[in-house]
Amino acid sequence: MLKIEQLQISYETFGLEIEEIEFPQGVNVVLGPNGGGKSSFMEGIIGYGHETLSKRSIQFRGEPLERVEGIISYLPQENPRFRVLVREYLTMTSGSVPKRVFDETVMNFDLEGLLGHSIESLSGGEFKRAQCAQVALEDKPVIMLDEMEQGLDMNYQHEMMDWICREGEGKVIVASMHDASLALTYADTITLVKDGRAEGPMPSASVTAEMLSACYGLPLTVKRQEGVALVYRNLL
Ligand SMILES: Nc1ncnc2c1ncn2[C@@H]1O[C@H](COP(=O)(O)OP(=O)(O)OP(=O)(O)O)[C@@H](O)[C@H]1O
Ligand SMILES: [Mg+2]
Repeated sequence: MLKIEQLQISYETFGLEIEEIEFPQGVNVVLGPNGGGKSSFMEGIIGYGHETLSKRSIQFRGEPLERVEGIISYLPQENPRFRVLVREYLTMTSGSVPKRVFDETVMNFDLEGLLGHSIESLSGGEFKRAQCAQVALEDKPVIMLDEMEQGLDMNYQHEMMDWICREGEGKVIVASMHDASLALTYADTITLVKDGRAEGPMPSASVTAEMLSACYGLPLTVKRQEGVALVYRNLL
């Protein structure tokens, strides 16, 4: 569905090179170590950073994707805050939406009590929920979230994973994460990005402890039980 035919980014001391990977409809999680290239990969898909982007050939539903507006909602790893009320912030990028849709979204993201607050005054996790609600209201066919669980408490991490799983029923989701247990529990596919190279997407169920250990340079165990995955460091 979202096909990256070629993507090449060259910074002074780091290069990312991707050939032929395709993200299907559903939840596609990108994992990998700090500095591995996850954010660069996502920025490259968006087309951000022209001067460092030497190759970029992307297709969505078989059509070349030159301009991403209208197709991709993108939540970067770092986001500036504005002095604007949550109520206004939510529809800033979507324009007016039916009241019913707005109210439902506000409820889904537990933002009822925060609508009259300034975006600047929100806690880290509250801001993240407002950002995700803004993305939900944009209602574009591809959602890309960089470090999607960052700043969320355990309850909201699961709520947000439930949300992207629902969105993934009709959209292509690409989310980078650091919590491998959460990722393997909820994702349909996993892509490992390290040293500017990508391995995947592969079905979540096929990701082994050996693959993750090699990716992070850390001896890890993967346990799967009753639909839940647990990734932990070997202590012996
Ligand atoms: N604009 C830039 N100019 C020069 N180097 C950059 C730039 N952006 C990223 N890099 C370098 O590219 C490498 C990959 O960075 P990137 O942000 O893509 O990693 P990441 O996988 O998202 O890491 P993290 O998990 O820490 O967010 C790093 O070594 C980083 O220092
Ligand atoms: Mg990053």
